[in-house]
Amino acid sequence: MNWLDSHCHINDEAFREDLDAVLERMAENDVRKAMIISSYIDDYRFALKISHPEISFKHSLGIYPGDVDTVDEELFHSYESLYKEKECTAIGEIGLDYHWNKENKERQKEIFQRQLVLAQQLHKPVIVHSRDAIQDTYDLMKKYPVQGVMHCYSDSAEMAREFIKLGYYISISGTVTWKNARESLEVIRNVPLDRLLIETDCPYLTPVPKRGSRNEPAYVVYTGKKIAEELGLDEEVFKIQLNENYHRLFGL
Ligand code: NI
Repeated sequence: MNWLDSHCHINDEAFREDLDAVLERMAENDVRKAMIISSYIDDYRFALKISHPEISFKHSLGIYPGDVDTVDEELFHSYESLYKEKECTAIGEIGLDYHWNKENKERQKEIFQRQLVLAQQLHKPVIVHSRDAIQDTYDLMKKYPVQGVMHCYSDSAEMAREFIKLGYYISISGTVTWKNARESLEVIRNVPLDRLLIETDCPYLTPVPKRGSRNEPAYVVYTGKKIAEELGLDEEVFKIQLNENYHRLFGL
C-alpha cells in the first residue's frame, strides 16, 4: 500500500520552479495520493492542471479565514460556483484564525458559516483550519454538521475527542516529528485509527529530519513512519488504514 498526503499546497509559488522534480520525488517515495488545497481561484485552476502518471490528485477550494476582508459578494459567488463542480472534492481550507487577526472575528465566522452551509447543500466534506479559535470553530461545526477533517490539528487530545464525536477526522502534520510534540503524540493516541489522516501542509511545517528546508509531499513519509512507530503499528497496516480513511472521507 502507498502513502498519501491529505493536505498540500504544491500549487504554491514555492513549487513553480521545480514542480516536476517534486512530483518525481513523491512517486519515488511511494506517495501516490494527494489532496491539493487552493485558497485562490487562480491557484485552483493551476492545480487542476497538475498531473503525474503514478499519482492521483484530488482538489479542494475554500476561502481562507485570513482573506475574509478582501472577499466581496461577487467573489464569494465565484467560489460558490466552483464548489459545485465535480473536480472540487472538498471545501477548504476554511475556518477561523484569530492568531493574526482578532479584529474581524464576526466576518470570519460569517464566511466560515456560509461555506459550511454550502458544504451541507452540496454534500461535500470540509477541510478546517483553526488557530487560536478552537471553541468558536467547534461551536459553528456543531451547529452546521458536515463531514470533514481538522487539518494540521494542534489542539488538545480532549478537544480532538469532541471533534471525533461530531464525526470529524483529525489530520496530523510534520510537527509530530518535532521535539516539542508531546501534545500531538497524546492526540494520536486518543484518536481512533479510522479517523486519523496525515498531511504535509507543504511548503510549511517540514518534518524532522528535513526541518529547515521547504516541505514537500514526499516528506509525509517521515510523519507517517513516526506515527506508526509511536502507535506500535506495522507500517503496511497503517498505510492501508490511511488509504481507507482518505477514500471514506473524500471518495474514490
Ligand atoms: Ni494549508
